[in-house]
Formats: sequence, structure tokens, C-alpha cells
Amino acid sequence: MSQSLIENKVAVPKEFNKIARRYDMATGLSQGYQSDLNRSAAYLQLNGNETVLDLCCGTGKSTAAVLPFITSGKVIGVDNSEEMLAVAGKKFANEIKAGKLQLQLQDAMKLTFEPASFDAIFMAYGLRNMPDYDKSLAQLLPLLKPKGKLVIHDYSLSDTWYSAAYWWILGYVFIVPISFLTTGETNIFSYLIKSVLNFLGPKELEAKMKATGFTSVSSHAQPTWRAPILRTFVGSRG
Ligand SMILES: C[S@@+](CC[C@H](N)C(=O)[O-])C[C@H]1O[C@@H](n2cnc3c(N)ncnc32)[C@H](O)[C@@H]1O
Repeated sequence: MSQSLIENKVAVPKEFNKIARRYDMATGLSQGYQSDLNRSAAYLQLNGNETVLDLCCGTGKSTAAVLPFITSGKVIGVDNSEEMLAVAGKKFANEIKAGKLQLQLQDAMKLTFEPASFDAIFMAYGLRNMPDYDKSLAQLLPLLKPKGKLVIHDYSLSDTWYSAAYWWILGYVFIVPISFLTTGETNIFSYLIKSVLNFLGPKELEAKMKATGFTSVSSHAQPTWRAPILRTFVGSRG
């Protein structure tokens, strides 16, 4: 069943609907999940007055990484799972009321924003879920203002011989069984394991970002136990 999600990624947000209420608990069991996001969000190098797109924001763990950097600016969180957004909406009711955060239900492959709408885009565990990585990156570039930054935070297996084995064991021995115990679901987690094994390696994604037109492209391993599997990619528009 998870193979059909790989072949039909448009259905992924509906799978997230099923686990939305337990998502924070499941990821909370993954040591360092939030601090890794916080470290990636720091690469946005925000001053505080920016408008930032948090693409595939889910229940708002990535939003929580960006919001502390925002003073007079705002964050727009976009996701195509109604239930994930509902959890985020409850969590950030005060920020929404204060105009610091807006949440929108949209397909990340068909964004409706005007060109140059954002000073920065954060996409955490999002690109891997897109059916077409090139098309997604090409869509994001013009949404940035000149000098705007894109930061992608995602599992991307390093070129070391052991990174795929490390991920396979972590995935099938720990993530799938533990997630089943916390959410009662396995499909979306089996999809997670397969989608990472199918995703771009660091050099491939950097090359795609450059080919799309992003400049000053770099990527950074997380300085934690996830170093072989989790990376932060940074690129600028001009
Ligand atoms: C693993 S969660 C990441 C959530 C959050 N960024 C975080 O760091 O915890 C992936 C999210 O991507 C969303 N997603 C997947 N495909 C999408 C699409 N085509 N458009 C919008 N959201 C999508 C899912 O609904 C899900 O909430």
C-alpha cells in the first residue's frame, strides 16, 4: 500500500489526516526532532520583519522553529492536510489572532501566491513528498523576493556506504513499529522509509537547486546522530 503512495504522492496529505492528532507525540519520541528543525530555521538568517512561507507546515513543528525569529513580520503556513492544519491552528491560536501566522490549505504543487511574495521559504520534510522535485523547485524560485532564501530540511542519505543501511534499520526496526504503537497506522511510515530511500542524495539535490537557478547553494549535515541521513539545504534567489 505504501508503494501506491510513492506512485501517487497527491494522496500523501490524506494519509497525514489519519495521524494528525498523534503526529506530535510520534515525532516527540524521535530524539532531537525539534532542535534539528530549529537549527535548520536559523539558516534562513531572518531579521524579524520578513514574510516567510512555511511550506508543508503540518501540525506546526517547523512553524515553531521559524516563529521565534519573527517580530514584526509574519509566517504563512501551507499544508494540504486539513487535520494537520487543525492541530496547528489550535496550537498557534494566539499567533494567528495577533496576525503573526496565517494557515492555508493548499497543494504545494499548485501554489496560488503572487511572484516575489516571500523573503524566505522553509520547507521541512516537504520536498520529498512532491511528485515532481524539479517542478516544485521551479515554482518556489519566483515566489522569493530577490536575495530571498530557500531552506529545505529533509532526509537525504549521504554518500557514505552505511547511510542507506542505517536508515533501513532505523526505519523498519524502530520508526515503523514505534509509530504503529503511537498512531495505530503503518502505511504513512512505511511510505516515509521508502520515500527517503528513493529521494535525492545531497549532491543531487544541490545540483537540482543550482539547475533551477538558485545561487549560493550549500548543504549541511545535522551535527547529531542524524548526520548520515538528515540535511539542511540552502539556496538564494540571485
Ligand atoms: C512530515 S510532515 C512535516 C510537517 C512539518 N513541516 C514538520 O516539520 O513537522 C509532511 C507534511 O507535508 C504535507 N504535504 C505532503 N504533500 C503535500 C502537498 N502536495 N501539498 C501540501 N502539503 C503537503 C503533509 O500533509 C504533511 O503535513
